[in-house]
Amino acid sequence: MQEGVESQRRFVADASHDLRTPLTVMRSEIDVGLESPHLSEREARALLESNRNEVEQMARMIDNLLTLASIENGQLELLRSPTELQALAREVVEDLRTLAAATGVRISASGDTASVVADRERLKQVLTNLVENAVKYAGADAQVRVSSWQHDGEVGFTVTDTGPGIPAEAIPHLFDRFFRVDASRSSARQGSGLGLAICHDIIEAHGGRIWVEGQEGDGSSFAIALPTG
Ligand SMILES: Nc1ncnc2c1ncn2[C@@H]1O[C@H](COP(=O)(O)OP(=O)(O)O)[C@@H](O)[C@H]1O
Ligand SMILES: [Mg+2]
Repeated sequence: MQEGVESQRRFVADASHDLRTPLTVMRSEIDVGLESPHLSEREARALLESNRNEVEQMARMIDNLLTLASIENGQLELLRSPTELQALAREVVEDLRTLAAATGVRISASGDTASVVADRERLKQVLTNLVENAVKYAGADAQVRVSSWQHDGEVGFTVTDTGPGIPAEAIPHLFDRFFRVDASRSSARQGSGLGLAICHDIIEAHGGRIWVEGQEGDGSSFAIALPTG
């Protein structure tokens, strides 16, 4: 119980901090815009684009918070419909392209067409969390690839990056709530250690699997697989 209270307290603090950061960035950019007497069209556009990135980041965080609330209430209901994974992969890559460009990460989608009856919005949230992590933790000059596949009665996604990878001892805890690898490495980046736990719960609700491969120092490869039958 005590542990529950403590993690809830930490969660509220982390989530508030994470939502506050993009707001602070936006406010200072808006102030710069308002205080510049002769803002060129190019400068105005750059400001708006940056603000748009911050708004999108906040929207992703709020989606995760809402999903977490549904999970906590035991109400993670799936709205299943035929879902095409290759199209979904392209959509997520497009949505995160400006975020990736801002951090110098190259991002691409490829792979097979693969259809499954699933909750499209929840799957999109899972893939978005995985790709956002890859972009966030892989570092400048990294490459992130998303591929869709079908194999042996399953369909899935694999998200591969050329970043630092995950230390072997961290792998068993990676999908736990609040777990972050090497607090010092992660603390420079926003996050509460909830993204992968939410991915795990969404995939579990679909009767699927989620896992990570790769060696420390040699990139990571996160994959999900869903049964088609
Ligand atoms: N692609 C990746 N490369 C390296 N480390 C990663 C990657 N994805 C996740 N991690 C590590 O796993 C931790 C947990 O990820 P996540 O649950 O999404 O939480 P958050 O991103 O909020 O820290 C991250 O803090 C990071 O240390
Ligand atoms: Mg994350």
